[in-house]
Amino acid sequence: MNIVVCKNYDEMSLRAAKIVAAQIKEKPNCVLGLATGSTPEGMYADLVKMYKNGEVSFKEVTSVNLDEYYPIAPTNDQSYRYFMNQHLFDHVDIDKANTNVPDGTAGDPVAEGKRYEELISALGGIDLQVLGIGRNGHIGFNEPDSKLILDTHVTDLTESTISANARFFASANQVPRQALTMGIGSIFKAKKIILMVSGVEKKAAVSALFERNVDTNFPATMLNLHPDVTLVCTADVLD
Ligand code: F6R
Repeated sequence: MNIVVCKNYDEMSLRAAKIVAAQIKEKPNCVLGLATGSTPEGMYADLVKMYKNGEVSFKEVTSVNLDEYYPIAPTNDQSYRYFMNQHLFDHVDIDKANTNVPDGTAGDPVAEGKRYEELISALGGIDLQVLGIGRNGHIGFNEPDSKLILDTHVTDLTESTISANARFFASANQVPRQALTMGIGSIFKAKKIILMVSGVEKKAAVSALFERNVDTNFPATMLNLHPDVTLVCTADVLD
């Protein structure tokens, strides 16, 4: 695993944005795997700035997001589709038809998982996947469990995730109890992965990653098996 240590959140955001921009320059029609949450917000803001300065264009890019709450409407301001429009898609020249987020309104979430998985395969996999990490070690919404699912699927959110994400909602009981998420296998179809981590509350999660074990009860440890992962983190995560 490559490690890029940054002095603060702003530097982490810029370093990650530069990795994404370099990927687009190398392959303008690349497939980007994208994440939501607090961690990548600054990176998206930097990518929007780079686009406005003419440093990067998303014209030929296709995106696939990791996950979406289930059920949720795309117009709901807590949906991940809404987040992506607000933080990136509405401000750059990406063709919205080429942006993909699991459909939180799908009548049949199992069929939606299958459709999404087929889409990722049809795109030839992901060139660069951006990940964050949950305090409980989840990546996407692959929550700690005795086994992990490879393909995109519907999953129950753990109490830890519900309480961590309650900060975005009026109260914890408004957080959806389920989500559609890429599986570990879908994430591993990415040729390159950047894992962004910021803040002392993620310290324990990162140390577990460094133990170099693979533990389904700490899904991020699976990243130890991937050949091209770059951890872009703030220094306080490693103290
Ligand atoms: C988001 C996602 C999640 C988050 C993780 C960290 O699409 O898949 O795994 O990356 O929950 O969230 P933040 O960045 O809000 O701490």
